[in-house]
Amino acid sequence: MGMVHHAAPTNSVQEQTSKCSVGATYEGRDPALLDRILPHVDYIEVTLETIAEVRDDKLRLSDEVMSELKDIGKAAQIIVHGVSLSIGSHDGWQPTYLNLLDDFLQQIDVAWHSEHLGYTKVDAQHLGIMLAMPKTEQALDMVCERVGRIQDRYKLPFLLENIVHVVPDFPGKYSDAGFLNALTDRTGCGLIVDAYNLECDAHNHGFDISEFLAELNPRNVREVHVACGVEHNGFLLDVHSQLTRNSTVELAQHIVNQAAGNAQVVVYEFMPEAVPGLGHDAIAGELARLRAAFGH
Ligand SMILES: [Fe+2]
Repeated sequence: MGMVHHAAPTNSVQEQTSKCSVGATYEGRDPALLDRILPHVDYIEVTLETIAEVRDDKLRLSDEVMSELKDIGKAAQIIVHGVSLSIGSHDGWQPTYLNLLDDFLQQIDVAWHSEHLGYTKVDAQHLGIMLAMPKTEQALDMVCERVGRIQDRYKLPFLLENIVHVVPDFPGKYSDAGFLNALTDRTGCGLIVDAYNLECDAHNHGFDISEFLAELNPRNVREVHVACGVEHNGFLLDVHSQLTRNSTVELAQHIVNQAAGNAQVVVYEFMPEAVPGLGHDAIAGELARLRAAFGH
């Protein structure tokens, strides 16, 4: 088992936690779950690909799920979190994702939208996995130009999230935090910091979380993710199937504190496939626990 490096509070034994809203993922088609979630959250995070279905040979948003989301009304703000844009592919992003986003935003107001800093296709071939960007000047130029196009197109805050490293890094000029700092400085985009992804990297590759957070400009962190998966063959997997561990919540608290009021929400992520195993009670309990931990 690899070392999990924790970012220790610097000048106090008991770190005061900054207040932060709580959110949860919800992918539709489970209204009983939504009823249990809503009393505990201020934000609902939706992944468009999960609520899409193929109709007339085209990928379209499910009318059924869209009407569920419209019914949320003022009970929570909606935020969109994409998985298939592939903003880091050298041969261009995936335009079908933007079609889904166009359609969604015509129907529902969102507080902001986000994607992952990575790529899921190479030379138009889908990899079936998301890989981290090479941290070179050329890659930075490319992704900054694309972020600018997204900001122009939607006129909404856009955030990018750190993803887990599945394969060793391509040699590049920037550290992980240095690349994110340069990206946010140049584009004004915000960041999602996924606390569980950092723990996976620490466990799997000895990634130094303290060093990463010490270098990261905390002003740009708008959203923090917590989740938990399973360990397989010694690897901690980026699947969202479990309740969060205390270590992940503590790391998220540290990130929120460091962001000093800039982090708006901590989102608990779980896959729809995990809901029967977790149960609605446990999910509601998890959200209540996060609300207590983040002071809302
Ligand atoms: Fe995440």
